[in-house]
Amino acid sequence: MPARLFYWLVFAAAAAPGGVLAWRAWTGDLGVNPAETLLHTSGRWALGILIATLAVTPIRRLTGWNRIQQVRRMVGLWSFTYALAHFLLYAVFNHLGDIRAIWADVVERPFILSGMAALVILTVLAATSPAAMVRRLGRRWRTIHRFVYPAAVLGVVHFAWGQKADIREPLVWGGVLGLLLLVRVAAWAGRPASRQVEVTR
Ligand code: HEM
Repeated sequence: MPARLFYWLVFAAAAAPGGVLAWRAWTGDLGVNPAETLLHTSGRWALGILIATLAVTPIRRLTGWNRIQQVRRMVGLWSFTYALAHFLLYAVFNHLGDIRAIWADVVERPFILSGMAALVILTVLAATSPAAMVRRLGRRWRTIHRFVYPAAVLGVVHFAWGQKADIREPLVWGGVLGLLLLVRVAAWAGRPASRQVEVTR
């Protein structure tokens, strides 16, 4: 498959949930609580796509399929887009855009704080993702982008904390994330000592 075609297929797959959600909103097909459907669906896609981003490098290493690496940045930016939409929906529907009320919620509810912390990290990663920033930041870029792991952990914690009773689903996401972290640590530990200071991409 040509490289550009692969890129745009992945792009379309990541954009599709947003398109479907927008279509459902347009046609009034969001169920009894449209605000809740929008908030929950955007949050789930933000987290699912974030974890998919973390799977890119392990898949490349295990399969030798190098082309997959070219979509990692774009997929990561989609996760940020869904997370930002998720936050904006929360700000508008839950607090009518009142910044003080949002801030009070952040400091009062650890569940909201964990989501906010994840979003702050994703914002920094998105802002430092253009090629010019990669060049300008040099080695520091890799250090900054390692924070994608804490962002994903915070996302899973936020998901689990937000559930009223049944935390089975966040636990499954946590398990997948734990596995990806293990693969990463194993790859790092397997490198020659001289190269362990380097952070692999
Ligand atoms: C300022 C940032 C954020 C705020 C204020 C926020 C707020 C919320 C709220 C109010 C809910 C609904 C909880 C409920 O009704 O029980 C929710 C659910 C959720 N959020 Fe966030 N969130 C933020 C960031 C994030 C980020 C960055 C992610 C992912 C990386 C995320 C993933 C989720 C998930 C997966 C759910 C559960 C959806 C479900 O139960 O179906 N959130 N969030």
